Amino acid sequence: MAADDLRARVAANEGWYHTIALPGGITTPGQVDLRTSAPKLLPDRLDGTRALDVGTFDGFWAFELERRGAETVAIDVEQLDHAQWPPLNRPRLRQIAAEWDMQLGRGFAIAHEALGSSVERVVTDVYDVTPEKIGGPVDTIFAGAIMVHLRDPVRALEALHACLKPGGVLIQMEHFSLRNTLLAPRRPTGDFQPLRSDFNWMLANLSLLKAWPWVAGFTSVERIGFLRPPSSSFMTGWYVGLRSRRSA
Ligand SMILES: C[S@@+](CC[C@H](N)C(=O)[O-])C[C@H]1O[C@@H](n2cnc3c(N)ncnc32)[C@H](O)[C@@H]1O
Repeated sequence: MAADDLRARVAANEGWYHTIALPGGITTPGQVDLRTSAPKLLPDRLDGTRALDVGTFDGFWAFELERRGAETVAIDVEQLDHAQWPPLNRPRLRQIAAEWDMQLGRGFAIAHEALGSSVERVVTDVYDVTPEKIGGPVDTIFAGAIMVHLRDPVRALEALHACLKPGGVLIQMEHFSLRNTLLAPRRPTGDFQPLRSDFNWMLANLSLLKAWPWVAGFTSVERIGFLRPPSSSFMTGWYVGLRSRRSA
């Protein structure tokens, strides 16, 4: 694709979530720039393996997994409002999405073509993902910034556990409550947020974020590190990287 065409297509997409570096020195104007987070969370190389990116949005993590050599599948819901927005907020959020002409998958398609990517994008709710839907079990799953948007994180993690090969790895990067982590470092607690946030259900403290994969059947749940990626003002905050395994 010619650089001018690509620049025009990138500019025409109002709702970029991810900052992605594309050929020709073009960078998508994302809400969050995870380019320095990826090397902290993902292995350097994933050659000869299969990977799954959960809730891919514009595909930043899927393209990073692919760049490291993994045959990658990415999943997302079909439309923005198929995510589990709290019912109270749905009419208003639908209107904003329509006014801004925000379409899930459009940014992914632009970046996918520009990067010459082979990532396969599969439309499915994470609750319903199965190995059959994604071409077989995978070695690595990346699930970023999604637990907070789910009514039932354990149900999602159970479905992901079933998509991993024995010994496979789940890597997560999630927003968490620093305050509730300091107040209750060892007690899993969640802050129920639908009455004061647009998209969030439960903002977990660190202990709850680690409890969810344990409860879903994962082992060796461990913290990789804390991250604070450059973001637009309403998305600024602390994230934690976690790694868990499916037993071998
Ligand atoms: C906050 S964005 C995070 C994007 C990306 N995973 C990251 O870490 O940068 C949440 C993404 O999860 C998707 N999503 C939300 N609920 C989902 C569900 N129930 N099943 C699958 N994807 C979902 C959204 O459509 C969106 O693409």
